[in-house]
Amino acid sequence: MQNDKKIIIAIDGFSSSGKSTMARELARRIGYVYVDSGAMYRAVTLYALRHSMIAADGTVDTAALVKALPGIDITFAAPDPATGVSDTLLNGEDVEKQIRGMEVSDHVSPVSAIPEVRRRLTALQQKLGEGKGIVMDGRDIGTTVFPHAEMKVFVDASPEVRAERRFKELKEKGIKADYQEVFDNIRDRDFTDRTRKESPLRKADDARVLDNDGMTHAEQMDWLMNLYKSITARD
Ligand code: DC
Repeated sequence: MQNDKKIIIAIDGFSSSGKSTMARELARRIGYVYVDSGAMYRAVTLYALRHSMIAADGTVDTAALVKALPGIDITFAAPDPATGVSDTLLNGEDVEKQIRGMEVSDHVSPVSAIPEVRRRLTALQQKLGEGKGIVMDGRDIGTTVFPHAEMKVFVDASPEVRAERRFKELKEKGIKADYQEVFDNIRDRDFTDRTRKESPLRKADDARVLDNDGMTHAEQMDWLMNLYKSITARD
């Protein structure tokens, strides 16, 4: 029998692997809070861009950004009842649309490689998970943010499939994009995310792998729900 025990669910994986869509849907179905940790790294990147802390060649003025960190507040609006999407707020301003564009995508990897940025966002994320009953997706949720999460999933899919998805998503949102640019961005981010020194993207030893290349959304949701039920039915 399923019980009411609240758990922490960590969903990590490559960019555009579809993890946010499934994590949000899972949270909605089981009445949990959903947190998109990538949105937090994107919001810090937007802040850095707006304050001219990123040079034309992509170099980040780390010292200036680290100094500004205490004044960067990232929160989430209440979820839209129709879509379940919680807009990201940067110092109270709704920046949901701006953080999804290519300019932020192109600069988010070096920003998220800065140890002080990771430390600050990790602390904020851990605070959000204090009461459990949370689904969080990202790159290091099962390894660094919640190493004791009761349910850990690592989502994998080929770069081609992920680029197709992301391209379609951007078009649907009315954001201009070029397929090759999207593909190159994904491949570059995979590399930077996997090879950075601080909390690189890697599967936690106890995470279950979901390779969703040939799976429909409904099949992925069934897979997740079955795992969730089997974990919460224990003890
Ligand atoms: O999930 P996303 O593509 O929106 O994430 C944007 C970037 O943020 C991604 O390139 C890597 C970084 N990120 C991270 O380093 N750690 C996380 N927990 C989430 C995202």
